[in-house]
Amino acid sequence: MKRLFVTGAAGFIGSNLVRHLLADDRDVSITILDKLTYAGRRETMRDFLDDPRVRFVEGDICDASLVEELVQGADAIVNVAAESHVDRSILGPAAFVQTNIVGTFVLLEAARKAGVGRFLQVSTDEVYGSIASGTTDESFPLDPRNPYAATKAGAELLARSYFTTYKLPVVITRGANNYGPFQFIEKAIPLFTTNAIDRQPLPVYGDGRQERHWMHVLDHCAGIDLVLREGIAGEIYNIGTDDHRPNMYVVEQILAALDRPRDLIRHVSDRPGHDIRYSLDSSKVRALGWEPTRSFESGLEATVRWYEENEWWWRPIKSGEYARYYEQNYAWRATAGSR
Ligand code: NAD
Ligand code: DAU
Repeated sequence: MKRLFVTGAAGFIGSNLVRHLLADDRDVSITILDKLTYAGRRETMRDFLDDPRVRFVEGDICDASLVEELVQGADAIVNVAAESHVDRSILGPAAFVQTNIVGTFVLLEAARKAGVGRFLQVSTDEVYGSIASGTTDESFPLDPRNPYAATKAGAELLARSYFTTYKLPVVITRGANNYGPFQFIEKAIPLFTTNAIDRQPLPVYGDGRQERHWMHVLDHCAGIDLVLREGIAGEIYNIGTDDHRPNMYVVEQILAALDRPRDLIRHVSDRPGHDIRYSLDSSKVRALGWEPTRSFESGLEATVRWYEENEWWWRPIKSGEYARYYEQNYAWRATAGSR
């Protein structure tokens, strides 16, 4: 597949995916559509915006006429764009319904009309909901529990209906928690890291015993690329590691890496409907030949160093919109829920 249409590449996973695709294939051409929301920034694409194989268009995936024009001639669409942060979906779900569901619908319609040969929908392990024990394979029932996860599940169901009804060659990936360079600082690992660099409190929701399976973003991107090329149309592929770690462990690792004291940890009021645990069975994508290449500990150490060395990227975010969001999401927690 030479002509790719990738949405959301000014964000965390999308930008890393474009880097991966450009490194992998010198003949590829990539059209990027990104709205540049608070989470999408030109700075994040700085190293590839001038690459002759890349064309960047600023715009909304919900804009049907723009999308129809841009998908002409594409061999494949990779839909990475989304509203992606659970806490923001709790504060205001409307943008999540619009981008994640309506936006995916607009892309599917454009793909169907243009006869695009491949449509990869990037989804998430959150569609399974909180898993008390064991692992979830792709046949596990969907039970999304927050507005973000529900809109991702809705998008997936629409995408699958386009395969069943219109034979659009859709593949879906369900990724576990990512970490790595260029992740917006609202997410746990960059938030804890940048707060620790600044000797600010690290707000841990509840008791911090919740568990996530962590995957380096470049391992995720390699999995997406593999499914794009070799996944079977109509199929879903979990992509996750065995690196499950409780949140408290993650916080302690970050503090140790930065030589900061434990008394920066603040237990604050929990996230409403907090999913305690996710756990993917990724044997299906492993059977295609994928496996993670980084351990959590070495990947986390490298990521913490990246944030230490790249203040130019994240320091400007800390003021403005992010400061207002931080106040809205954390001010009440500190007084209502500390323990
Ligand atoms: P992100 O918030 O860092 O980036 C999202 C990008 O989408 C931004 O560049 C933003 O500007 C763009 N965007 C948002 N709304 C848009 C719209 N209407 N039109 C065009 N562009 C728009 O998100 P991320 O963490 O990189 O996640 C990317 C995808 O991966 C999402 O679909 C998410 O559900 C999925 N995912 C994320 C993780 C994770 O751990 N971050 C894990 C599994 C799956
Ligand atoms: O599992 C995949 C999902 O991972 C993706 O689909 C989402 O787009 C992505 O944002 C991420 O969702 P999480 O909610 O798991 O990630 P987040 O970084 O927000 O939180 C990770 C854990 O840390 C979670 O248990 C909540 C906790 N947390 C988070 C924040 C922001 C805290 O304790 N304190 C915080 O301030």
